[in-house]
Amino acid sequence: MAVGKAGERKLLTGKCIIVGVTGGIAAYKSAELVRGLVKEGADVHVIMTAAAQEFITPLTLQTLSRNPVITDMFAPPSRWEVEHVALADRADLLVIAPATANIIGKIAAGIADDMLTTTVMAMTGPVLLAPAMNVHMYENPVVQRNLRLLQELGYHIVEPEEGPLACGYSGKGRMAPVEKIIARCREILTGGDLQGLSLLITAGPTREYIDPVRFISNPSSGRMGYALAERAAQRGAEVILVTGPVALAPPAGVKVVQVESALEMQAAVEEYFPAVQAVIMAAAVGDYRPAVKEEKKIKKEKDEVVLRLVKNPDILAGLGEKKGDKVLVGFAAETHQLAEYARRKLREKKADLIVANDITNPGSGFGTLTNAVRLFYADGREEELPLMKKEDVAEVILDRVLELLKSRKVG
Ligand SMILES: Cc1cc2nc3c(=O)[nH]c(=O)nc-3n(C[C@H](O)[C@H](O)[C@H](O)COP(=O)(O)O)c2cc1C
Repeated sequence: MAVGKAGERKLLTGKCIIVGVTGGIAAYKSAELVRGLVKEGADVHVIMTAAAQEFITPLTLQTLSRNPVITDMFAPPSRWEVEHVALADRADLLVIAPATANIIGKIAAGIADDMLTTTVMAMTGPVLLAPAMNVHMYENPVVQRNLRLLQELGYHIVEPEEGPLACGYSGKGRMAPVEKIIARCREILTGGDLQGLSLLITAGPTREYIDPVRFISNPSSGRMGYALAERAAQRGAEVILVTGPVALAPPAGVKVVQVESALEMQAAVEEYFPAVQAVIMAAAVGDYRPAVKEEKKIKKEKDEVVLRLVKNPDILAGLGEKKGDKVLVGFAAETHQLAEYARRKLREKKADLIVANDITNPGSGFGTLTNAVRLFYADGREEELPLMKKEDVAEVILDRVLELLKSRKVG
């Protein structure tokens, strides 16, 4: 049994990236960002605002970036002989992390009163902002308006996350994790490694109606499927998301098809299947449905009601029968004998990959933000991933789908 590890990719070799650091608590994380970008092969130049230098020293970032840090617009050019416009011209990307409410406002207003804002104005290439601030600052309508405006103008934004904040509050405002910022840099600079790929993803639960107001369902939140759809779209794929009823906002840039029952999901999946190269079935499809859906609400008259259920079609197995060279990925949420069920599912449904998780484990399965999964491949390989956020699990699954598609082309 070969157990793989999430592979490292060095995709930024030869890219010139300016990292702008502004005066927020998260400035200390910019050290990790600079380090990560350098590790990915990028030539990194740091510009710090005056406020940023209250939080982290230029020396740290100079050492990590292996380039002089620019802090003062009026300092005479020294050995690197670069003025603000020249650096903006040379850079493939400018990423500001953390981005304060202040810098976001200044850029939105066209202000250029220090080296960083001046360089932003001189940039013709992409600019990525990683906002980080107190939740009330982030939710301030002025900040939100500025972010919307910048997004409309083509600025890239990697949204902050929810959680405990350094200021003692809890809420949205924590800078996106450094790995996520680096992943966005990669996407922007490489055009997205899933470009040209069409993906069909299913998500959420199904509802099998008993009568017009009652149904059988399950607690699937849809988070795994939505994370897959969102990340795939951000990596350049064309995504069709067939989703059961969930309380999540539709991911940007994704074609969303809403369904309720397993039969509706099957019909939608069959419709879009011919147009895609890979299918990821993350939905928790009901195995059974009531044999009869009553047209009128069942009244509370009898002491006992017997519900007869009939089997729903197996959507994944149906696709397996006609898959051709498409890649098929299924999910298995199990409470016991995980490996045995996952391998059987692989065989019986002719899938290429089964993503299996034990839903009795803490932090895994329905309704959680994290997942610990084991990947079972058709060629017998297995891979165990640690407990990760569903977004990160999504990234790995997409990496693996891409690898499977590439190996198919070569093979
Ligand atoms: C301890 C401390 C922490 C701060 N943290 C943040 C922050 O996380 N986000 C933010 O937008 N502003 C924060 N500020 C306010 C900014 O430092 C202030 O708005 C400053 O003018 C930003 O300048 P700059 O955008 O040029 O770096 C903080 C201020 C202090 C004193």
